[in-house]
Amino acid sequence: MKRASHAGAVASAIATVTVLAACNPSLPEAESAGAQLYVERCSSCHRLHAPGVITSASWDVILERMQREMRMRGVEPLSADETRILREYLDKHALRTQDASGGSNDGG
Ligand code: HEC
Repeated sequence: MKRASHAGAVASAIATVTVLAACNPSLPEAESAGAQLYVERCSSCHRLHAPGVITSASWDVILERMQREMRMRGVEPLSADETRILREYLDKHALRTQDASGGSNDGG
């Protein structure tokens, strides 16, 4: 159980978030945990994609693909918690298509 190496990583992650958050003012609910996590975990390899340009179903697929990218590049993959928070955030703000079937129109 080595913990020493974590402190530095966390500190630099916080610094990174602070800088990047300033560059991404257009994210929906920029203050939310989901948005912060999105900036923190998803902007190190490429620019962020606006949640609203991708459908919920596609986000699911992409998140799994990104997990693989992270492993391949030695980036710590998302934890179960992080995945859940990001899913909820991206799903909430995802692209809604007019003809989405299923009638899940329960005002959630
Ligand atoms: C380890 C580097 C890395 C990290 C971290 C990363 N990505 Fe990616 N991402 C890539 C690469 C490489 C591609 C291009 C290859 C591809 O599309 O599979 C990509 C492409 C994408 C695309 C475009 C996909 C498409 O079909 O056009 C989206 C959206 C995306 N990433 C979202 C995310 C999200 C959300 C996260 C955080 C969970 C994330 N990325 C974190 C490496 C990364």
